[in-house]
Amino acid sequence: MLLHDRRSRVPQTRWAMRKNAMGHVFQTTSQRGLNHNLPPMRLWHKAKKLGTWDPRAISLDRDIKDWRALSPDQRDLIVRLTSLFQAGEEAVTLDLLPLIMVVAEEGRLEEEMFLTAFLWEEAKHVEAFRRFLDEVVCTHEDLSHYHTPNYSRIFYRELPAALNRLRHDSSPQAQAEASVTYNLIVEGVLAETGYHAYHAILKRNDLLPGMLQMMEYLKRDESRHLAYGVYLLSRLVIEHGDPIWNAIERRMGELLTPAIEVVNELFEAYPVLPFDLQVDEFIAFAMAQFQARSSRIEKARGQTLEQLNRVDELEQMPV
Ligand SMILES: [Fe+2]
Ligand SMILES: [Fe+2]
Repeated sequence: MLLHDRRSRVPQTRWAMRKNAMGHVFQTTSQRGLNHNLPPMRLWHKAKKLGTWDPRAISLDRDIKDWRALSPDQRDLIVRLTSLFQAGEEAVTLDLLPLIMVVAEEGRLEEEMFLTAFLWEEAKHVEAFRRFLDEVVCTHEDLSHYHTPNYSRIFYRELPAALNRLRHDSSPQAQAEASVTYNLIVEGVLAETGYHAYHAILKRNDLLPGMLQMMEYLKRDESRHLAYGVYLLSRLVIEHGDPIWNAIERRMGELLTPAIEVVNELFEAYPVLPFDLQVDEFIAFAMAQFQARSSRIEKARGQTLEQLNRVDELEQMPV
């Protein structure tokens, strides 16, 4: 019964693709094999080389010494940022599965392969931030008081709702809205701007080298996740046309303001910003990243799948 229910919402073509006169056919034992030129497959190959770092293998010895020398406000800003990342990484780890389910049901093997690395990397990001809190900050306090109203809206409500909708509605529009929420807003605007701020603090002040190293690995992982999101949204636009582009634009319009407000709320917490940070730098960074990706996806309106899948297109993605 369960199998019947699951199949009943999957278009027949998907299952037909899996069968021939002999019964079930698997892609990798058919003439198709694996398409190593597909952008997600190229990301998979990168993930195998670049995504295998171990959060436990990074020394935090100097970080522990540096931490003791920081002022209360400097510590507070770093714990605040870490609290936002910690919950954010946990959220994206918990919420990705419905998208992987849809991709698997559609028989997109190469995409699913990359998404297994994607999920594994998010789980490592959860571990990395928790290790910093456990071993450098040495806190087990509840840090959710740092989760401001706009942060809570996005991570407590919008993200789980958009991804969990895919459990009962795997339409292209639902996929596009989930990907805008997850990839473009949470990863593209919030995570990348946060990494940029965290990295700027540590690099410019020669602080916490273990955490700085983790931040560099995290940023590299995240650029692959973003590249996949841009690919997925571009593919949906090419396959389903303007209704999907309109849904993407609408969803971006709904979430961009609260996402930018998360950045403002972070900085508003301090009368004088620690580490001489300027909020304008980070708002400008967030907007520039967002605009570049949105323009890249809009470009898909005039493209074919063949053009999207060309190797040089992936290299040009703004990640
Ligand atoms: Fe992450
Ligand atoms: Fe990510």
